[in-house]
Amino acid sequence: MTHAHITTWVIALILFFVAIALHKKESKRAYKIVVMILRVFYLLIIATGAMLLFSLATITGMYWVKALLGLLVIGFLEMVLSFSTKGKSAGVAWILLIVGFIAVVYLGFDLPMGF
Ligand code: HEM
Repeated sequence: MTHAHITTWVIALILFFVAIALHKKESKRAYKIVVMILRVFYLLIIATGAMLLFSLATITGMYWVKALLGLLVIGFLEMVLSFSTKGKSAGVAWILLIVGFIAVVYLGFDLPMGF
């Protein structure tokens, strides 16, 4: 399940950058399709994350923090996309995304479940 979890967020990250590139190229149709697939991957990240979470006998505080941070990062991805498509400055959303992403990956690997 850990492999599946990592695979889903790595693919989501790639799709996110593809969507950003398509937006810059103003390929509206392709952008919409990629964002749709990206949103399916959000659900897969949450599903695999939840399965990891509920496979634990006791869920300690740090696991809740990890899960919450994971959900926030998904929110930040959406924030960057929505600000960019609306032509608003996405600077703050990018900073939140980068800081949140580093924190969630660090916490994920630091937590003991592993592979
Ligand atoms: C973009 C969002 C996310 C990223 C980048 C991310 C990243 C990671 C990483 C790097 C690991 C470590 C894997 C390992 O130990 O080998 C991990 C584990 C885990 N993730 Fe996520 N995750 C995200 C979203 C979520 C969500 C939404 C949940 C809960 C609903 C979640 C729950 C977990 C749990 C329970 C673990 C196991 C921790 C352990 O290894 O002990 N994650 N995640």
